[in-house]
Amino acid sequence: MDIDTALEQLPKVELHCHVEGTMRPQTVVELARKHGVTLPTQDVTRLYSYSNLDTFLEVFWLVQALLRDRDDWARLAHESVVDGAAHGLAYRETFFTPARHLDMGQDLGDIVAGLADGLAAGEAETGARVLLVADIDRAYGPAAGLRMVERLVELRTAGAPGTERVLGVGLDSTELGVDPTTFAEAFAVAGRAGLRRTSHQGEETPPTHIAAGVDVLGCERIDHGLSILDDPELTKRLAQERVPLTVCPNSNIRIANRVQRLEDHPFRRMREAGLLATLNTDDPALTDLDLGYEYRSVRAAYGYTWEDMVEIALDGVEATWLDEDDRRALSARIRNAAASLAPTTF
Ligand code: HPA
Ligand code: ZN
Repeated sequence: MDIDTALEQLPKVELHCHVEGTMRPQTVVELARKHGVTLPTQDVTRLYSYSNLDTFLEVFWLVQALLRDRDDWARLAHESVVDGAAHGLAYRETFFTPARHLDMGQDLGDIVAGLADGLAAGEAETGARVLLVADIDRAYGPAAGLRMVERLVELRTAGAPGTERVLGVGLDSTELGVDPTTFAEAFAVAGRAGLRRTSHQGEETPPTHIAAGVDVLGCERIDHGLSILDDPELTKRLAQERVPLTVCPNSNIRIANRVQRLEDHPFRRMREAGLLATLNTDDPALTDLDLGYEYRSVRAAYGYTWEDMVEIALDGVEATWLDEDDRRALSARIRNAAASLAPTTF
C-alpha cells in the first residue's frame, strides 16, 4: 500500500470542524429551495473563494441561515458523519454555532436534538463517533453568548434529548476588533456547569488573544492558535502544559489567506517547539477539503514519515475530551490500524 492510501484509511480524530462548514453543495441548493431562499448562484461552489476570515464568514453565514428546522440540522449532521467517515474519520468533536438561529427564534433544544438525531444515524451507518461543542459567535456579542450558555446548561440539567453529546463550549467567528475577554462571564458559567472550554484565537490575531483564551476564558484547548510562535514564552508554556492547538493548515491558506503554501505554514515548527498541534479541516465542504487530504498534503509538504503521521493522529486522541478509557481504546484502534496499514512504498 502506498502512503497516501494508508493515510486516507488511517482512523483519524478531528477536533476542529464546524458542522455548518460540512454542508454539501447539493444540500445548500436543496435547503434553499425548501425554504424559498434565492441563492446568488445555483453553482454555490463559485462562492467558495475567500480573501480573509471575514469574507469567508459572509458565505458561512449564508449557509448557516438555511438551517431552519430540526430536520435540517439532522440532515446536516448525518451527512457530515458519512462524508467524514469516507476519509477515515473515527472520532470528531464538532462545532455548531447557533447564534443566528437563536436570534431568528429557533430553540437550542430543537437544534441539539436535530443534530443528535443526525449524528446517531451517521454513527450507525459508519461506525464513526461524533460529539458536539456549542460555539459562541463573537459577532453576536457577549450577552448573546451568555444567554446561549445559560440555555445550554438549563437543557443539560433537564436531561433534554441530545444534550449528553454536548461536551463543551467554544468561541468562533470574526476576530479582528473583538476583545475575547468580554466573553469571560459566559465561559465562567460554562466552566461552573462542568462544560469543557475551547476558543478560536490567533487565526488573525496576535498571541495575546491566545493567552487570553487560556488565562481569562479558562480554555483547555485553542482552535487555530496560528500566531503562537510570535510569543516564545507562551509557546514554551503551552508546550509544557500540553495545551492542544487544533490547527487547520489548509484552511489557513484557503480561508484566512495567512500563508500561500503549506511549506510556509508554521505547523511543522509548532510541533518542533513541542506544542500539541493537531490536524483538522475546519470547514471542509466550503473549502473543498477532507481529513485524508489534510494528512496527505501535510506529509508531502513537510517530508513527514508514516511514523510522524501516526504520532500526529495519536496526538489528536490526547487532545480529545474523552475519558481515559475511551482515549485508550481509540489510541489502540489507531495503533492497530497503523500496524496493518504500514505503507511499503514511499
Ligand atoms: N474561524 C472563525 N470562525 C469560523 C471559522 C474559522 O475558521 N470557521 C467557521 N467559523
Ligand atoms: Zn474554525
